[in-house]
Amino acid sequence: MKKYETLVVQIREQIEHKIWGIGDKLPSLRKQAELSGMSLMTVLNAYQTLESQGWITSHARSGYFVAPQVHYTEPKVSGQEVQSTETVDINDFIFDILQASKTPNIVGFGSVYPDPKLYPRTQINKSLMSAASHMPISSLLDNLPPGNENLRHIIAQRYAAMGMNIPEQEIVITAGALEALNLSLQAVTEPGDWVVIESPTFYGALQSLQRHNLRALSVRTHPQTGIDLEALAKVLQSHKVKACWLMTNHQNPLGSTMPLEKKQRLIELLTEHNVYLIEDDVYNELYFSGRKPMPAKAFDPRGMTLHCSSFSKSLVAGYRIGWVAAGNKALDIQKIQLMSTLSTSAPIQLALANYLTSRHYESHLKRLRRKLEQRKFAMWQAVRDEFPASVEVNYSEGGYFLWVELPANLDATKLYHVALKQNISIAPGAMFSVNNQFAHCFRLNASLECTEPVKRAIKQLAQMINTMLIAE
Ligand SMILES: Cc1ncc(COP(=O)(O)O)c(C=O)c1O
Repeated sequence: MKKYETLVVQIREQIEHKIWGIGDKLPSLRKQAELSGMSLMTVLNAYQTLESQGWITSHARSGYFVAPQVHYTEPKVSGQEVQSTETVDINDFIFDILQASKTPNIVGFGSVYPDPKLYPRTQINKSLMSAASHMPISSLLDNLPPGNENLRHIIAQRYAAMGMNIPEQEIVITAGALEALNLSLQAVTEPGDWVVIESPTFYGALQSLQRHNLRALSVRTHPQTGIDLEALAKVLQSHKVKACWLMTNHQNPLGSTMPLEKKQRLIELLTEHNVYLIEDDVYNELYFSGRKPMPAKAFDPRGMTLHCSSFSKSLVAGYRIGWVAAGNKALDIQKIQLMSTLSTSAPIQLALANYLTSRHYESHLKRLRRKLEQRKFAMWQAVRDEFPASVEVNYSEGGYFLWVELPANLDATKLYHVALKQNISIAPGAMFSVNNQFAHCFRLNASLECTEPVKRAIKQLAQMINTMLIAE
């Protein structure tokens, strides 16, 4: 056994024997080198191995900590394998909840966007000013569907950096990922078709199904590894499914990421049944491990995966710039876009292209990921410390959501209303499903810094849950 492997085994055993608990800081590299008599390089090698195996996690300038996933029990997969819904009717409920959560100075645990303070506002503003002052007169025409050529080129290069060959002609610029997803759904379905979604799923998917009069097949989804492929295989046998709308990386609301082999198997299954995949991948830049998770599209040579993403979560929400790498539907999507929004705003496309070519997107992303990881971890710890033991909290590596499961008899929508009166928002589980399966769950936005007011709000939520538990 090599020296660093001996240290890996030692530390793993110490963690198993609870000498180091979840969240505990390990000795610094230097201190560990002193203690073990090993070189700094050997200790670094051991720590990096432990990190890649998921035992520990590193936080910028603070050191190495025991990672949460080591000890948490395998999360429950709740709910039935598959549920079918003929008519999706959820938009009014979601509208009311989103409206109510807009109260000024609210502690926004219910928000779907990262803390806006994490966006590089000054740099983006500089790009907007520069783009506006140099905008050619022809820019409206130049930016009609499929969108700004330079921007599409940069997006194609970003795919290439992941090892994916996506020609620019396949990429259509849209108003955020939401337009990309809606156009994709419209391009591959007719009203009345069956569409597979995850259970729970992003409420935008439910709204989109409602808008296009589609029927939903909600397939059970694991909080760590994503959609249940056995259940999916069964439903593909029993129903004539037109498309699957899935979030393969850092799923909203669960946070799950499908392992690579599972993505490959997913594409095999869809190929067998000739089904389109609408891949909603808006969180793929927000990974905590060393590598960006591959989209399932990377394994689909058919051109039947429409990969949708945006800059809303990673750079700036308000600009509303997204795209779809639309495979064999790229032309159809442009035609539908021409009939609806015509095109995405020209100055904003130019500003984004300016930012991506002349600023430091990669350094921003690195900082953002690190901050999100620190904040999510801190929020997870605070929630675990404060919430009653009967409440389960799903931590996932990446993104900024924590999925909270209350005891089954408690109603998270009720908690939402009580919390709102105290100026705290949460996203109740009822938003993420067309049946009542997740009424006892809620999603927390963990991109907020754990400041005193945020900690206080967590304590208040814990008190509300305790009161509900006593009343039941
Ligand atoms: C899973 C998922 N898809 C799509 C969107 C929409 O993204 P955008 O703001 O870029 O339209 C969101 C954000 O709200 C999301 O959470």
